[in-house]
Amino acid sequence: MTVTKKVNPATANASSDEAVLPAGAGSPGLGARELQLTAGEFRQIADLAYQRFGLDLKRGKEALVAARLGKKLRKLGFSTFAEYHRHVLADASGDALIELIDALTTNHTSFLRERAHFEFLARAVKEEFRAVTTLRVWSAACSSGEEPYSIAMCLAEALAAAPARRFEILATDISTRVLRAAERGVYPISRFDDVPEAWRRAYLLRGRGASEGFYKIKPQLARAVEFARLNLIEPFPHQPPFHVIFCRNVMMYFDKPTQQNIVERLSARLERDGYLLVGHSESLTGVEHGLQYVRPATYRNHKPEKAGGLFR
Ligand SMILES: C[S@@+](CC[C@H](N)C(=O)[O-])C[C@H]1O[C@@H](n2cnc3c(N)ncnc32)[C@H](O)[C@@H]1O
Repeated sequence: MTVTKKVNPATANASSDEAVLPAGAGSPGLGARELQLTAGEFRQIADLAYQRFGLDLKRGKEALVAARLGKKLRKLGFSTFAEYHRHVLADASGDALIELIDALTTNHTSFLRERAHFEFLARAVKEEFRAVTTLRVWSAACSSGEEPYSIAMCLAEALAAAPARRFEILATDISTRVLRAAERGVYPISRFDDVPEAWRRAYLLRGRGASEGFYKIKPQLARAVEFARLNLIEPFPHQPPFHVIFCRNVMMYFDKPTQQNIVERLSARLERDGYLLVGHSESLTGVEHGLQYVRPATYRNHKPEKAGGLFR
C-alpha cells in the first residue's frame, strides 16, 4: 500500500529538544519516574500518526500523547519516546503501529448510538429503497461492532414483512483489536440498555454458566455482517456501491484535506441517492462535496437523471 510522506503542518515548526511535558501529566498515578516528551519527539510521533492514519495531532495535544503513550512506554520498558518511536518503526508485524493508534484514538461506541440515524435508516429502507432487493450498508469505522450489529437489527426489523429482501453489511476499522471483539459479538448485558426488549429476544442469545451476564449476537444476524481491516486514508478495495455508508465519529481525527479526500472517495462508493451518515458532532463544513444535505449529519448522493430524449 503506498503511503504519501506528509508532514503534519500543525507540528512542523516545533523546535526539537525542548522538553514539553512529563509523561503522565494530567494523568495521576502513573508512577514516580518521569518521562519527558520533547518537542522533537512529539513531532516524530505526530508525523508518524499523520502519515499512517491521517491522525491530526495538533500542537497542544502534547499532554494527551504523553499521558496515553507514557503508559505504553513503561509497560515496554523504554526510557524515552524516541526509543519507543524507533520500536514502532522497526516492528514489521505492524502490531506496534496498531497499538499506537489504539492508544491515541478512542474506540468509544454503543448500540443504537445517535438513534436518529437508525430511525432514518428504517424509514429509508421501507420507503425510498423499497425496490432494492439486496441492501448494502458500510460501517466504515465500526469499532467493536455495536454500530454494524445495530444496523443489522434495524434492517432485520424494517424488512421483517418483506422476506424476499435481504441486506449485507461491510464493517471495517483500522484496529485489529476492536475487530476481534466485533467478530466475537459477545457483550455485557448492560451494553444493551438502549435496545428494545423485543429486539433482544429476536436477535440475541443470553449467556449461561461462565457466559452469565453476557449476550451474544445470534449467528443468523451476525452472518449478514462481514468484518475487515481498512485504513480510511488508504485506497479502498473494489466493492459494489452502497446504499448507506455510516462513517461516524472518526472524521474528527482528520484534518480538512484528509476529510476532503475521504469524503470524495466515500461519495464515489455510494449508489445514486445513497446516504452518507457522519457523527452528529461532526459536519462536512469546509469540505467540498457533491452531496446534498438532507438533515443533521445526513447527506445524499443525489444526481439528477441524465437528460434523455431527442432534444437538449
Ligand atoms: C469513536 S470510534 C467510532 C465508532 C462508531 N463509528 C460509532 O460512531 O460509534 C472511532 C473508530 O475509528 C477508528 N479509526 C481511527 N482512525 C482510523 C482510520 N484511519 N481508518 C479507519 N478507522 C479508524 C478507531 O479504531 C475507532 O474504532
